[in-house]
Parts: sequence; structure tokens; C-alpha cells
Amino acid sequence: MESPFKAEILKGKVGLITGGRSGIGFEISTQFGKHGASVAIMGRRKQVLQAAVSALQSLGIHAVGFEGDVRKQEDAKRVIEPTFKHFGQIDILVNAAAGNFLVNAEDLSPNGFRTVMDIDSVGTFTMCHEALGYLRKGGHGRISTSGGPILNISATLHYTASWYQIHVSAAKAAIDSITRSLALEWGTDYNILVNGMAPGPIADTPGLSKLAPDEIKIQAREQLPSFHIGDKWDIAMAAVYLVSDAGKYVNGTTLVVDGGNWLYRPCRLP
Ligand code: COA
Repeated sequence: MESPFKAEILKGKVGLITGGRSGIGFEISTQFGKHGASVAIMGRRKQVLQAAVSALQSLGIHAVGFEGDVRKQEDAKRVIEPTFKHFGQIDILVNAAAGNFLVNAEDLSPNGFRTVMDIDSVGTFTMCHEALGYLRKGGHGRISTSGGPILNISATLHYTASWYQIHVSAAKAAIDSITRSLALEWGTDYNILVNGMAPGPIADTPGLSKLAPDEIKIQAREQLPSFHIGDKWDIAMAAVYLVSDAGKYVNGTTLVVDGGNWLYRPCRLP
């Protein structure tokens, strides 16, 4: 699909995207690149990371990949420093790395709970914390786009409650809170805009294939008239909006991009 944004809207920017090798993270990397940015992607597995970098490069995007686990502070440093060395700047951080699996609370071990909290919540904070020195450029005071921005990928699971997702719901709730706290502190101190995005079910992503097998999707479509699966493109366009000058007055919000799915309730009135 063609982008509604000008091709140079992110020209000259450098984006670092965790979890950028697949799914939503890869599409965000691709669209950042197509809109003029250079991108560094961070992932745990060297081989798949390299394949993603090659795919980006084949589109003419200046892309590099660095191996690392967002759970480890030393890995965060090991990715952020060479990204800065390679490009001479880091302008945008996207935290898209996430862990997920379906399990009922009774069968989830505390370590399983902690693992997802570590990847999603602690990982997001660690990356923000380690990247701050590179992202801050602006002066104190009025919000502008001179520092940052940061985009944290969240979800809508915790707005109510979601079956078999106690760990992920808790982790995403923490991410939303981190987004608001950093927006307040770093928005004020460094003109860094910190926002989140909560995607709905998105086609062709590891998340959807893992969490909603085909038979569940067919069932959902039959039972929920409003059930609508989005495209990775929808998420990437919202990301371009939030990190570009188009979003320069948006700070501390988590944008729900789900076609209204999370609002759905059966109508009880005739
Ligand atoms: N059900 C229940 N518990 C699970 C689980 C599952 N499907 N997968 C992992 N765990 C538990 C493990 O049992 C372990 O707890 P224990 O030590 O008490 O037994 C704990 O989580 C850590 O598991 P481990 O496999 O050692 O962790 P890991 O670091 O190798 O990988 C994940 C953990 C979450 C990254 C991995 O399981 C995963 O899901 N990766 C895919 C990421 C993904 O889906 N991304 C898309 C997000 S939408």
C-alpha cells in the first residue's frame, strides 16, 4: 500500500528498533527506511537478524543489525554504542521486542511471569535508560521534536483482562506507565517525546500466529461482528506519524491501533 506521508518525512534520522527483525518491528524498520531514515535493528539471533538486514538493504535502506537481548543491560550498551558509532547519531528508539505465550495463570511459573516482565517492561526501561544520552539534544522547557522520540509497543490486553495472558497484561501495563513517566520527565527535561502504541491483531505476525491460530480467527470473525485483523502497514504508518514532526505535540499517550476491536461488547438492547 502506498504511504500517505512524504517519502522524506524521516530523512536524515536514525532509528534503533528492538525486535526489528520480524513482524511489526520489521515493518516499522522498513517504513522508517522508506521514509528516509537509516535503521539499526536489535535481535537475539544472529542469523535471522542478518537475513532481516539483507532484506532491508535490498530495498535500498541503510540498515545494520546488532545482536543483543534487551534483558541484559550490557547488551543494550553493546547495541546502542555501535549504532551511534556507525551512524554518528541516534534519533528514534522503538521498543518492539516482546515475549509472549498463552498459558493459564495456574500453570505459569513465577519465572515464566518474570521472563516476560523482563523482556517487555524491564527491557523497555533498560533500552530507554541506556539510549537517553544519545537521544537528548534539546534544551529544557517547551516540548519540541529536538530530542528523542521514543515509541514503546504495548497492547490492549490489560485495559480489561485477557485470558491466559496474565504475564503479558502485567508487562504491557508497566510499559504504559513507563511511557507516561518518561514522557513527563524527559519531555520536560530534554524535549524527548515518549509515546506508546497498542496494536490489535495484525496479520502475518509471530504474535497472531502464536496467539490466535486460524480456527480461532474464523470463530472470532463469526462471533464478533467488529473483529477485524489489521495489517503491519497500519502499525508502521502510525509509528511514522508518532515519530515524525506530524506527531510533535503528542507526548505520553499510547495510541490504540486496532480498528476499535478492544471496545467491542455484545449489544444487549433490542
Ligand atoms: N508456557 C508456560 N511457561 C513458559 C512458556 C510457555 N509457552 N514459555 C516459557 N515459559 C516459562 C518457562 O517454563 C520458564 O520458567 P521455569 O524456569 O519456571 O520453567 C520461563 O518461562 C523462561 O523460559 P525460557 O524458555 O528459559 O526463556 P527464554 O528466555 O528462552 O524465552 C520467551 C522466553 C518468552 C522469549 C520465549 O518463550 C518466547 O515466547 N519467544 C517468542 C517471542 C514472541 O512470541 N514474540 C512475539 C510477541 S507478540
